[in-house]
Amino acid sequence: MAKVAFIGLGVMGYPMAGHLKNRGGHDLTVYNRTVAKAEKWAAEFGGRAVATPAEAADGADFVFCCVGNDDDLRSVTTGKDGAFETLKAGAVFIDNTTASAEVARELDAAATARGAHFIDAPVSGGQAGAENGVLTVMCGGDPQVFESARPVIDAYARMVGLMGPAGSGQLTKMVNQICIAGLIQGLAEGIHFGKKAGLDIEKVIEVISKGAAGSWQMENRHKTMSAGKYDFGFAVDWMRKDFGILLTEARNNGAKLPVTALVDQFYADVQEMGGKRWDTSSLLARLEK
Ligand SMILES: NC(=O)c1ccc[n+]([C@@H]2O[C@H](COP(=O)([O-])OP(=O)(O)OC[C@H]3O[C@@H](n4cnc5c(N)ncnc54)[C@H](OP(=O)(O)O)[C@@H]3O)[C@@H](O)[C@H]2O)c1
Repeated sequence: MAKVAFIGLGVMGYPMAGHLKNRGGHDLTVYNRTVAKAEKWAAEFGGRAVATPAEAADGADFVFCCVGNDDDLRSVTTGKDGAFETLKAGAVFIDNTTASAEVARELDAAATARGAHFIDAPVSGGQAGAENGVLTVMCGGDPQVFESARPVIDAYARMVGLMGPAGSGQLTKMVNQICIAGLIQGLAEGIHFGKKAGLDIEKVIEVISKGAAGSWQMENRHKTMSAGKYDFGFAVDWMRKDFGILLTEARNNGAKLPVTALVDQFYADVQEMGGKRWDTSSLLARLEK
């Protein structure tokens, strides 16, 4: 049993912290900006809720974090009352936020300067993956530090991989989002075309999902897409945040991402249609408007 802190009990962090307590059997201290959520978590799982990230990290062996973006992450780490004020020598800070590789390298240097360690560890698998404790975790950091953290991370994961030095986890998550971008647009266009052609979409998907066109998105999202239901899952606002990060990275490393850049603009249309919190499969709504 380790002393573990968790900062950021949102859609993802709340159940992830729960698995660290229940499955991992660790001694948990939690912090959330909106205090009521931390109190609810403590009442449900039996850990300790505290008022600042610094209090949460004080004395912890492993400090987990899952907040929104780069600025949120800086605020709870190197900001006032941030976790890095108290992070002890030898402690490992594991960041599950989807953020830039640049902020990961910056926090790795800040943790190292304190004699502590940093691992960027963004996740994929969505809300359901977090609730069921079956997330995919893409890590960047030192191999020895990773090996010490891995059994703790396992509490909420099905797949955990070390991708390289600090920032490599975030770069891998960028690849993940790039692969999804064009795929969802293709699926949206396929369903849109099928409907216009007067086909029975259920029947079409039943047949083609077993062939070369099959995908996780097709299996898990075609029913809700053809029913026009988009009010769940990974939000368009979050996807645009991720695209912003990876398009900046691509400008720096010279990668060409024409389709991803185009789909980013399609999601801007969806935001204008009022779909900021809709699921990313809402690209179909844009075609049907
Ligand atoms: N949702 C998904 O399906 C999914 C999947 C993969 C990856 N992710 C990534 O995981 C991260 C979290 O996503 P989520 O869906 O859990 O988001 P969320 O429900 O909006 O939760 C965000 C959490 O961060 C806290 N927070 C935000 N800004 C803060 C600040 N400046 N200071 C202190 N706390 C702050 C929020 O506190 P409050 O409660 O006070 O607002 C909340 O606990 C994001 O980077 C997202 O891209 C999400």
